[in-house]
Amino acid sequence: MELPRPELLINSVERLESVVAKVVQECQNGLPERVIHLSSGVGWPALRKCLSTYARRIEAPVEEWESGLRMRLPRVVVVIEKRASSVVVHGHRAGPGGTRGGALLPVPERAAEVWQLAGYLTGLADAGFVLTGAEERLRAALKHESWLVATLACDVLNRFGVPAVPRFVRDHEPHRSVGTGAPARGDGTFTEVWEARISVDEYALFEAVHPGYAVQMVELGRMVRSHCRALPESVLDVGSGPGLPTVMLAEMFPGARIDAVEPSPAAIPHLVRNTAAHAVSVHRTGITDFAGPRDYPVTVSVGASHHMDTRMFLRGLKRHTAPGGLIVVADEMVAPYASESERSRAVIDHHFAYIDQALAHVPDSHLPPAEQLRIRALRDTDRRVPELLADLLEEVRQDRWFPVGDDSPWQRVRFCVLELEALVAGVDYDVERKTWVENFMTLAQDEGLEPVEHRRVHATVGGRDLDAGTHVVALRKSHLAPLASRTL
Ligand SMILES: C[S@@+](CC[C@H](N)C(=O)[O-])C[C@H]1O[C@@H](n2cnc3c(N)ncnc32)[C@H](O)[C@@H]1O
Repeated sequence: MELPRPELLINSVERLESVVAKVVQECQNGLPERVIHLSSGVGWPALRKCLSTYARRIEAPVEEWESGLRMRLPRVVVVIEKRASSVVVHGHRAGPGGTRGGALLPVPERAAEVWQLAGYLTGLADAGFVLTGAEERLRAALKHESWLVATLACDVLNRFGVPAVPRFVRDHEPHRSVGTGAPARGDGTFTEVWEARISVDEYALFEAVHPGYAVQMVELGRMVRSHCRALPESVLDVGSGPGLPTVMLAEMFPGARIDAVEPSPAAIPHLVRNTAAHAVSVHRTGITDFAGPRDYPVTVSVGASHHMDTRMFLRGLKRHTAPGGLIVVADEMVAPYASESERSRAVIDHHFAYIDQALAHVPDSHLPPAEQLRIRALRDTDRRVPELLADLLEEVRQDRWFPVGDDSPWQRVRFCVLELEALVAGVDYDVERKTWVENFMTLAQDEGLEPVEHRRVHATVGGRDLDAGTHVVALRKSHLAPLASRTL
């Protein structure tokens, strides 16, 4: 790969500071990103030392690794990295969360390595490029025992052209049945059964290659560390499904007891098995019927708000959160819509963006024959006609055996079948009922929840933070009891 020619020669540390300051301003003033390649007459150790002093002076939290460092400022993230023969200053606009970059609670001791690797990996994703030599470290991270680290590495590799699959997904024995769960208890918000529209066993296996999946968990964890007074001793997780994000949460906060609320009979056996090694209690019910404590300092929900009536969802979370407690919701949101046809378009474009991202680097000629047929159908279909997409789903749902010992990234193709299932259910507005983020925030405020921070962590459609993609929203439950219940 040919490296870009350095634009500037820097022969003093002050010169580097002024370049960084310029990049910060350009991004703050509107550029989505700015990259400057420098050649340096000063050694990297001296530059790095000066940069961390500079970051402290301007009160920008800084994360460092061997050949680079990252500063977070309001609305801007700047990564400065030493490459083979140059230094690269890469700035890009960050989400609107004004408090991003504020003081964070220290990481739980037992989770130090997970947080350190998560910081390194999200740093690469944020920076928009991978260092020479980093690929090997990323490939090693795919085999990490932490599902958060392995899933993050998979996402970062894919962003940079390697269609990776985490080791724990490859090693999974799909033929080993997890059995069926006991029937779920009824619940006013669990109106349709998830498994009627989505293949839950496959979801449990392939969702880990969902673009942005692990990044949302790191952001959720960061918001907890940023907006809580102390690391939580207990966390309520609503709509845990097969439990991949629940495990990631446990890895980030090993000192917390997690109560996972999940009504789906098909998801429960996966959830029980996946979380067995962590401090997680599984509750087989929906949030409306959940009879657990009402004083969780932190309540979270990942990918589940769009499976319920949004108000009932918000009320359920609020009911179980302590006054002053934090609620963090990570979920997919689509572009705003004003009619059914606009909504269909928004849902279709959003899901196809994930499909395109997941398949972008998959070489179809190396796939097993059934997956080759599937990938061609997914790539070649006419996306403008919603009615044709149900037929496409029928087609790609055929012949779904699990290739054994195949090291091609076939799991990515199968993830796309799940995306298409969600897309078709979303167009039908059945089980999948997505809204857009501003609307979600308005509904939350109507329920008396104060917005604390929002960030789009993964974009599907549109260039604004409020456009479609994977979003993380932090909300605070007020300290005050509602007027009616207060003693006057
Ligand atoms: C898309 S899955 C998300 C699973 C998991 N959190 C993840 O991100 O992979 C949505 C989950 O919400 C669950 N769900 C639906 N209605 C619910 C309710 N009333 N209370 C709690 N969970 C519910 C579904 O059963 C499903 O497991």
